[in-house]
Amino acid sequence: MVSLVGSTHPLKNSLRTLAQNRGIGFGTAVWVKPLSNDSTYQEVLAREFNMVTPENEMKFEPVHPERDRYDFKAADALVDFAKDNNMQVRGHTLVWHESLPDWLTQAKWTREELMNILQQHITEVVGHYRGQLVAWDVVNEAIADDKNDLRDTIWRRVIGPDYIEMAFRMAHEADPNVHLFYNDYGGEGLGRKSDAIYALVKNLRQRGVPIYGVGLQMHVSLKNPPNPEQVAANIKRLNDLGLEVQITEMDVKTFDGTGTRAQKLAAQAQIYRNMMQVCLAAQNCKAFLLWGVGDRYSWIPRILKQPDSPLIFDESLRPKPAYSALKEVLKKR
Ligand code: XIL
Repeated sequence: MVSLVGSTHPLKNSLRTLAQNRGIGFGTAVWVKPLSNDSTYQEVLAREFNMVTPENEMKFEPVHPERDRYDFKAADALVDFAKDNNMQVRGHTLVWHESLPDWLTQAKWTREELMNILQQHITEVVGHYRGQLVAWDVVNEAIADDKNDLRDTIWRRVIGPDYIEMAFRMAHEADPNVHLFYNDYGGEGLGRKSDAIYALVKNLRQRGVPIYGVGLQMHVSLKNPPNPEQVAANIKRLNDLGLEVQITEMDVKTFDGTGTRAQKLAAQAQIYRNMMQVCLAAQNCKAFLLWGVGDRYSWIPRILKQPDSPLIFDESLRPKPAYSALKEVLKKR
């Protein structure tokens, strides 16, 4: 494990220090495999980021592989790394429609039974990390893509729409100090999905459900970049509800852009710059996280089934134009 705590020199001009000076966290999703065997990855992570979230290791399936067995080993390794390097940790995620173990999805549960499973899961997982995390994505991606409704998931089908409210209350009970978030994609700017997210969290707030903020995932690409004015307006209306916002999973796919590689990377840098500017200008935007340290380990090539370069460090974990763009905007007052 690299520990840079106390040695201010290498951190002085890093993104984490610049972000801290502006009052926001700067983070990334972390894959625990390179965390244990890639020293360049460890160095870049510790030098440039002061916030981490496990890319997969706190999700339902890895952490709760059998009905009565939990496995925190991989996630604990990241929490330890974060402690050693003076980083904050976001928990991700308690209730989602993906990464569910077979024991859960292959059985037929009554409403009572599934509510008990949800309660036990949240109590155990949030309880395990009580006092150690700054945030939890309690409910992830609960809004449908194609209609104005909640997504059809096992939670929604068996428990009903109030599974969302229950999950927040259970998490709050298990750790009253950790900040609880609703997290989703495709609702960064204005439009049907962001309206649906807004309506959902407004309703939760009005009924006193312990929700603290909204995570805007920000998985975007060159062709339809998020509109800065719209994202600012969306963050503002969430602020008016008393909610914090964090950019939780930013990456910028380049496959649908035009021009040379250099031109695409410049366009990508501009999108990172714009979103950081929006976050810095918003009262309630307190953290900015990427979905990966660098292109070497990004999930995007696997999803698109073709190479891409969505992050701010390249395949060799060297800084790209987007890295310099973020630095510039963090320095500019
Ligand atoms: C992704 C991971 O990056 C992949 O490694 C995994 O195979 C699937 O999940 N929205 C989220 C994240 O909230 O949890 C997803 O992470 C990416 C989309």
